[in-house]
Amino acid sequence: MSEHLGFGIDIGGTGMKGAIVDLDTGELASDRYRIPTPHPSTPEAMCDVVAQIVAHHGWTEQLGVCFPGIVRRGVVHSAANVDKTWIDVDANAIFSEAAGAPVKMLNDADAAGIAEMHYGAGRGCDGVVLVLTFGTGIGSALFTDGVMVPNTEFGHLELDGHDAERKAAAIARDREDLSWKHWARRVEKYLRHVEMLLSPDLIIAGGGASKHPDKWLPRIDIDTEIVPAGLANNAGIVGAAAHADQFRRRAEGLNAPPPPTS
Ligand code: BGC
Repeated sequence: MSEHLGFGIDIGGTGMKGAIVDLDTGELASDRYRIPTPHPSTPEAMCDVVAQIVAHHGWTEQLGVCFPGIVRRGVVHSAANVDKTWIDVDANAIFSEAAGAPVKMLNDADAAGIAEMHYGAGRGCDGVVLVLTFGTGIGSALFTDGVMVPNTEFGHLELDGHDAERKAAAIARDREDLSWKHWARRVEKYLRHVEMLLSPDLIIAGGGASKHPDKWLPRIDIDTEIVPAGLANNAGIVGAAAHADQFRRRAEGLNAPPPPTS
C-alpha cells in the first residue's frame, strides 16, 4: 500500500460513510464505516457522526467531507435533501472542531466528479465531461479539459414543470414504484435536455443507480457517449479525500493545481 493516504467522508441523505483512501490509486485503504444519517439531519447531529467516523479509523490529520448541497469556501448554501438549518453554516469550521483536524468541504457530486476524473471513467478525458449522480437527488459536476466548475446543480433544472431530480433521481424509481424501463425513459428525457444545453463530449453516470448500469444505460438513446462511473459507491469518499489533499499539497508548496473549491 502507498504512503500517500487521505481521508474522506461522504454525507448522503440516508448514510454518512468514511474511509482512509490510497491517493495514488483511488482505492480505499480501510473498511468503509457507515452510520445512518441522523434525523433530523441538523449540523449538531451530523457533527457527532463525523466525530464517530473519524474516531473509528483513528484519523488525526486533514480530511475531506462532501455534502449534498451547494458549498462555497466551506459554507453551505443549499440543503435540498438535508435539514434546512444547514443553510449559511460554516461547515469547514464546525466539522473541523468535531473531527479535531482541519476539514475541507465540497459538494458531493463535485467530489464524485473529481474522483472519476482522477481515478475512474473520466481519467485522461479532455473536452467537456459531465458527471451526473443519480441517488437521493441528481448531482452534477462539470469539467472542461479536467478543470471543474463547482456547484453546478443541474439536477434542479426544470423538466415538464418539475424539478428534474424529483422525477429522475434514483429514489423516484422506488418512491413511484417505476419499472427500470419507465424510469430510464425519464432519465433519457432529462439527459436530452442537458445535452442540448451543454453539448458535452462525455457523460459519466454515477450514484446509487450506477450499481445496476445494465438495467437502464442500454435503454438510453442520446447523441453523447454515456458510460457508467468507475468508482460507483466510493466516489464521494475518494473525491473528498483527493480534494482535501490538493489543499495540503498547495500549502506545502508542492506543485498542485488550485483546489476547485478554494
Ligand atoms: C443537491 C445537490 C447534490 C445532489 C446529489 C441535490 O438535491 O441540490 O447539491 O449534489 O442533490 O446529492
